[in-house]
Amino acid sequence: MNQGNGTPGNGAGRARGSEHIVVDKVCKRFDDFYALRDIDMRMRRGDIVVIIGGSGAGKTTLLKILIGLEKPTSGKVCVNGRNIVDLPELELNKARRKFGMVFQYSALLDSMTVLENVGFPLREHTKLRDKEIRQRVLEKLSVLGLEGIEKRFPSQLSGGMRKRVALARALMLEPEVVMYDEPTSGLDPISCRMVDDLILETRDRFDVTSIVISHDMAGALRIADYIYLLSRGVIAAQGTPSELVSGGNELAQQFFESSGIAADRLVEEHGAHEDTGVRFKP
Ligand SMILES: Nc1ncnc2c1ncn2[C@@H]1O[C@H](COP(=O)(O)OP(=O)(O)OP(=O)(O)O)[C@@H](O)[C@H]1O
Ligand SMILES: [Mg+2]
Repeated sequence: MNQGNGTPGNGAGRARGSEHIVVDKVCKRFDDFYALRDIDMRMRRGDIVVIIGGSGAGKTTLLKILIGLEKPTSGKVCVNGRNIVDLPELELNKARRKFGMVFQYSALLDSMTVLENVGFPLREHTKLRDKEIRQRVLEKLSVLGLEGIEKRFPSQLSGGMRKRVALARALMLEPEVVMYDEPTSGLDPISCRMVDDLILETRDRFDVTSIVISHDMAGALRIADYIYLLSRGVIAAQGTPSELVSGGNELAQQFFESSGIAADRLVEEHGAHEDTGVRFKP
């Protein structure tokens, strides 16, 4: 659990474990259909929060609302205590820079080199010169163990490398929050573990809050500080991995089963999980 101290430079209230993102009664309606209804979430700085749900549960809709790409029909999304929902476009653009996105299947641009892909956010959002951008990209690639690949094109990278490159790109504007959209979908179990490790490493190295959209319960139990289970637009269950394992929620059990996790192993691994966290359950 993350009970560490804040990084130097983090002001009062910005320490790891302090309240970072609060979603308050968010609803999203398309005509007369509610894609999201009364979503409440509390995310602490530095936590890894996994949002799990099946197809059509509302994950993408929620993600778009969280990063300010879409407005909720009602409700608030507060980042560092400030509601971003009604901000004017210019302010919203600034707020969006706090979020780094790692898209499903990496979403790198095939016609651009790694250098150009990773440098893209700096070119779009800053006035830095090419030389400075190049230097920053090379630094980030090096931190992520990707030295020497800057001239390659995405098609010349392995799947794992592409994920790392996409992560490097998401980190270029030094975000407070990194959002991962289905980071392990379509990967084999070993690659899934590597991506899970990458998410953990990234949290520790860059001190970010992580939001992971997923349908993989096994991965969620491995990396999450807190899990929200989304079903048909509502939060059907929530808790720490150990709480979900021992909570007996039917939907959670279905996810455990569909992820091929045996109940007795779950209790063995998570049942005695030490509960050190301050939580914000409603
Ligand atoms: N622009 C839209 N207009 C109408 N309905 C929409 C719109 N966007 C999403 N929906 C509906 O809202 C519900 C939630 O969609 P969403 O894309 O958020 O699901 P999801 O959890 O991301 O699913 P998946 O795992 O398949 O990506 C679905 O029933 C979808 O049809
Ligand atoms: Mg989706």
